[in-house]
Amino acid sequence: MKSVRVFAPASVANVGCGYDILGFAVHCPGDEVEMSINGSEKVSLDLIEGDEGRLPMDPLKNTVSAVVINYLEHIGLKKGIAIKLFKKMPFGSGLGSSSASAVAGLVAINELMGNPLTRLQLLPFAMEGERLACGNAHADNVAPALLGGMVLIRSYKPLDVISLPVPGELSCALVYPHVEIPTMAARQIIRTNIPMSNAIIQWGNVGGLVAGLFKNDYDLIGRSMEDVIVEPVRKMLIPHFDEMKKLALEQNALGFGISGSGPTVFALCRDVSTAEKVTRALESELKQYGIGSTCYVSKINPAGAQVITRQLQENG
Ligand code: HSE
Repeated sequence: MKSVRVFAPASVANVGCGYDILGFAVHCPGDEVEMSINGSEKVSLDLIEGDEGRLPMDPLKNTVSAVVINYLEHIGLKKGIAIKLFKKMPFGSGLGSSSASAVAGLVAINELMGNPLTRLQLLPFAMEGERLACGNAHADNVAPALLGGMVLIRSYKPLDVISLPVPGELSCALVYPHVEIPTMAARQIIRTNIPMSNAIIQWGNVGGLVAGLFKNDYDLIGRSMEDVIVEPVRKMLIPHFDEMKKLALEQNALGFGISGSGPTVFALCRDVSTAEKVTRALESELKQYGIGSTCYVSKINPAGAQVITRQLQENG
């Protein structure tokens, strides 16, 4: 039997100032998908583990199977595909959970088909998965989960995606307070018109962040992460956001912000040990308020989704 198992990582979308246009992949957590070819000519979702029964089992409604169906239609092949999804990260957490599943599914089907499409060519399919999951086809989670590293979506129409360099030691502290914020709801509260004065600050910061990455200038990266458009609105959904931010910066984080649509918060740090200090401080702060949290520390993941095992012989 031809089968593969693929890991796709969580990702931090927006990176502060870059709403919908910047994101990076981390090493953990991430989702896994196991996929095999059978003789049925149908795409089936045989198992979802770790979702507490919350995700749809209908192949047309579940992100991972829906993107596989679109992919097969696009390449013009009718194949029987059995999918098993292993959810290893929380929903509505701001960690790019649905993106990781869709990306793992796409990398798996592409591998089974002999990799006819490049990772970049898989991106539009993954973006359609985002539309299904939250109503909007943004790329700032799926692009880094697919391509790895830090990614800039310079334009959506036409799609123009640029991989950015990342200083070797740059590390990320992620703290997920145990409350759930659906992306769709977190998008609906954002103002669609912004004052020119805020736009000027924001595009200065996006430029500064990109320049900081190219120059290996940690301080420039940190001060450019400031988000004057989305964070002031969304932080109200996140318990003790301002205290966490103050604490993270006191622990020498370069910058602090909301990961994607939250409630996970992230801090970029000069190295892993600073990121560990930051997570410990935030975890114990939340604990004082009786809020549980899950923490991750990771460097930026340069590879994105990866095939973990493959068995590509029909007679296996
Ligand atoms: N850029 C998107 C948002 C990411 O902030 O809504 C969602 O994970």
